[in-house]
Amino acid sequence: MTERISELARKLKRIVGDTHVLEATDLTLSYATDWTGRFRGHTPIVVRPADTSELAQVVTLTGEAELKIVPQGGNTGLVGGGVPLNGEVVLSTTRLDQCEPVDQLAQQVTLGAGVTLARAQAHVAPSDLDIGVDLAARDSCTIGGMIATNAGGINVLRYGAMRDQLLGLEAVLADGSIISHLEGLEKDNTGYHFPSLFAGSEGTLGIITKARLRLHPHMAERCTAMLAFSTVDDAVAATSALRRSVPSLHAVEVVFRAAMHLVSEHIDSSIPVGPKSDAWLIVEAAASSDPTEELASAIDKLGTLVTDVGVALDGQHRNNLWQYREKVTEAISVKGTPHKLDVTLGASKLAEFVHQVPSVVSEQDEDASVYMFGHLGDGNVHVNVLGKDGSEPSELVDEAVLEYVAKLGGSISAEHGVGSAKRDLLHLNRSHTEISAFRLIKHALDPHRVLNPHVLLPKEDS
Ligand code: FAD
Ligand code: MLT
Ligand code: ZN
Repeated sequence: MTERISELARKLKRIVGDTHVLEATDLTLSYATDWTGRFRGHTPIVVRPADTSELAQVVTLTGEAELKIVPQGGNTGLVGGGVPLNGEVVLSTTRLDQCEPVDQLAQQVTLGAGVTLARAQAHVAPSDLDIGVDLAARDSCTIGGMIATNAGGINVLRYGAMRDQLLGLEAVLADGSIISHLEGLEKDNTGYHFPSLFAGSEGTLGIITKARLRLHPHMAERCTAMLAFSTVDDAVAATSALRRSVPSLHAVEVVFRAAMHLVSEHIDSSIPVGPKSDAWLIVEAAASSDPTEELASAIDKLGTLVTDVGVALDGQHRNNLWQYREKVTEAISVKGTPHKLDVTLGASKLAEFVHQVPSVVSEQDEDASVYMFGHLGDGNVHVNVLGKDGSEPSELVDEAVLEYVAKLGGSISAEHGVGSAKRDLLHLNRSHTEISAFRLIKHALDPHRVLNPHVLLPKEDS
């Protein structure tokens, strides 16, 4: 095995150059540990190809050496899908960072898979256009990783998730062959739609090298408000009313009580409105002309549902309100290593779920603390659980919460994916027939299980 690895490293160096094949543990360590610190693996080689042709050769050679590959972009994934938990080779896409000129006429752009979201946003901004998906990991997460996880983020209620932005892609398959369909045609019914299949495939079917994305007119005028609610039910009812009455609605995010107190302590700033509330919404409206009146009148109509409101009209105040939502993840990670359960519930089940989860958790681990927040506009709640003194909680917590989600008809993965964390619970949402069909698709595209073999699909014997 050691000889096979050394031989592969030598061959890879000839393709990508010595400095882009990392072997020493101190150099590979950060590629082998995930953002939360929960998933820690090891790898003999991290390889960083510069373009599609190099990447294709890397895949072919690694397959021939009978080694497995974990594709990795920004390593911000939260389900243990992008780290080598079984000693795989890590194929980092960060050097695939070309941004082609914006196609102004079509309002589209072709980007390398390793371009970070923040760079993509900056690249299209001078054309007064936006990328449809935005999320707090924007400085590190890559376009390829976002497609592979079908990332959601804060604007799904307006523009959809990553799959909805995709007009075409280029990818390297497990045998090193390349598929490329980047024309960006809005209508193109010429058979199976690879972008749909690859969105959410978590690196199991091929390695995305380029993507053609739909862009959206930039909404320069914004109004952001924080709304406080005495009950979770009121926050859910308000979300539904706002979705109906505010055409310029851009985001409806939620922070529940424990998470709000934690983030306020973390950023060392008091809770801006209704400090004794049970839930807070961060609501943003965005349009080409000032949406403040539209949003203010809709909030007014919520009447006694809302107990307190703070409105931000300029950039600085807006950023101030947003940090109570965007810094929750960081606030939790500072306390310890959470189990992150990312779920969606139908609107009618949301409040019941949020009420019940703390007792579902404490039945399995009485020392655990639960922090909830998320994208309420999409019914997406992030349940983060820390064990005693910041340690990981019992694994039984994950199973119990996700079984409860499935019982309520929800999804056990709203936007982060299945990864290695939830692969053995996939049956909670997917039938035996569906999982068998998944396996047939995987086998057709990757018969020797070279790409991310331990991700998404349940272990064969479970
Ligand atoms: P990685 O972590 O590197 O990889 C993720 C998965 O994609 C892995 O399975 C990997 O093998 C695969 N992969 C990566 N690149 C490729 C490629 N080119 N081809 C094929 N497979 C590939 N997610 C959301 O949906 N919404 C959010 O609001 C959100 N907020 C976040 C906030 C923070 C602070 C953090 C740390 C994470 C957040 N995430 C969120 C989770 C994460 O899924 C996203 O950040 C992003 O989609 C991952 O991109 P990445 O480049 O870091 O992918
Ligand atoms: C978020 O919405 O902030 C993310 O999905 C990250 C998380 O769940 O921690
Ligand atoms: Zn999220």
